[in-house]
Amino acid sequence: MKPSPLNSIVRRRLEQAARRAARAAYAPYSRFRVGASVLTKSGRIFSGCNVENAAYGLGLCAERAAILAAVSAGERDLRAVVVYTPTPLPTGPCGACRQVIAEFGPGALVISVCDSKKRLEARLAELLPQRFGPKDLYRRRRPGVRPRG
Ligand code: THU
Repeated sequence: MKPSPLNSIVRRRLEQAARRAARAAYAPYSRFRVGASVLTKSGRIFSGCNVENAAYGLGLCAERAAILAAVSAGERDLRAVVVYTPTPLPTGPCGACRQVIAEFGPGALVISVCDSKKRLEARLAELLPQRFGPKDLYRRRRPGVRPRG
């Protein structure tokens, strides 16, 4: 089934949420501020920013911060993810974030926006083909426990 497109009001709200979230970015090491927002199946919007750490490897991307906020609120179905970077060109989500988007939004629309009119837009399946996912663990699950995706 083809996923339904996002209407322009929702798009604008998502974009606004991602831009606003970037203001809270904690990125003293990279100075690369990122904001993200997600739209859940029930129509709620959650946002997040990147949060770095002096122990560099512990930094968290904005996309995952937004997704963790949604999941922590009980929202596990993502329809769309928006990434904002204050750059002239849009930035696609990193590989780790693509994998996390796949977990909760295998059909999600992923939109990257920036400080120019340029944007990227793709379905998660295009961004992460032949991906590993819950289905690959199916045989290891207990009977009756249905995998996602
Ligand atoms: N970053 C994100 O928040 N999202 C991405 O998709 C790419 C990278 C962050 C991680 C780090 O804080 C900074 O950008 C530089 O890599």
